[in-house]
Amino acid sequence: MPEPSTDSNQKTLKSILITGASGGFGLEYAKQLEPMGYTLILHGRDAARLQLTLDSLKHPERHSTILADLNARDGLTSLLAGVADADLYGLVNNAGFGIWGSFEKTGIVPQIDVIKTDLKAPIALAHALLPRLRANHGFIINVSSLAGESPLPYMSTYAAAKAALSYWSEALRIEMCGQISIVTLAPGPSPTGFRDVSGMPMGPGSFFRAASDMIVHASLNTLKKGGGYCVPGWRHKLLYLMQRTTPRSLALHLMAKHLRP
Ligand SMILES: NC(=O)c1ccc[n+]([C@@H]2O[C@H](COP(=O)([O-])OP(=O)(O)OC[C@H]3O[C@@H](n4cnc5c(N)ncnc54)[C@H](OP(=O)(O)O)[C@@H]3O)[C@@H](O)[C@H]2O)c1
Repeated sequence: MPEPSTDSNQKTLKSILITGASGGFGLEYAKQLEPMGYTLILHGRDAARLQLTLDSLKHPERHSTILADLNARDGLTSLLAGVADADLYGLVNNAGFGIWGSFEKTGIVPQIDVIKTDLKAPIALAHALLPRLRANHGFIINVSSLAGESPLPYMSTYAAAKAALSYWSEALRIEMCGQISIVTLAPGPSPTGFRDVSGMPMGPGSFFRAASDMIVHASLNTLKKGGGYCVPGWRHKLLYLMQRTTPRSLALHLMAKHLRP
């Protein structure tokens, strides 16, 4: 990861686009990236919450916000138009959500929206922004999930989207080796807005919950080392180990029991 500019002239500071910066991991990325001397472009849908993120930073005047719904027909286009003039050094593909419940009983529109926001948008953004990121020897962080490590009954579309995101991100890291650094972040549960949005009740999985500041910090450490696949903290590493060592048929039954509405 090349050093960011620390020039006091704001015009020369390099820009980072953080999607989903209105809370959770996105807010934490803003807090941890700002002291490194970047100009942040904070994306989200909720203007009021995005403003709270901006207000929580030390130099709000250095940063900007951009509103775009990644499920909407023109969402990606308007987000890309909003960063057209930015000298982009980094892209944090963080915006995402999951839905919990029976596939059959959940509408198809939200299922497809998960694919749009969690998979299509990061791939499309990376493709469009790659020339600028490469020119700056910059980076991409793709916020995936340990949900992408095994099929999840009752969160089937979310797990499928994150599995695809992780595969794509890991492959791209090798294609872009020496040109840009890429991190695939695969966290387990964390107390952000994610659970409320998904509709999932609090459950026994709470043992594995880990704080968002640690998770984001771990991904930035992986970036400093040149990129790679990051499973943050011991709780999520333990969960990952269990996923890797439990026979799939048993894991499927255990997860179905745990997640069944
Ligand atoms: N928390 C966990 O347990 C966990 C575990 C593993 C992976 N993750 C991943 O971490 C990432 C961040 O989630 P979080 O935990 O921080 O949840 P969060 O607090 O709910 O934040 C999600 C962010 O994504 C944005 N977003 C969602 N749908 C969007 C859309 N259609 N268009 C534009 N922005 C959209 C939200 O923006 P608005 O609020 O403005 O709508 C919000 O800023 C997601 O990719 C999630 O899958 C979370």
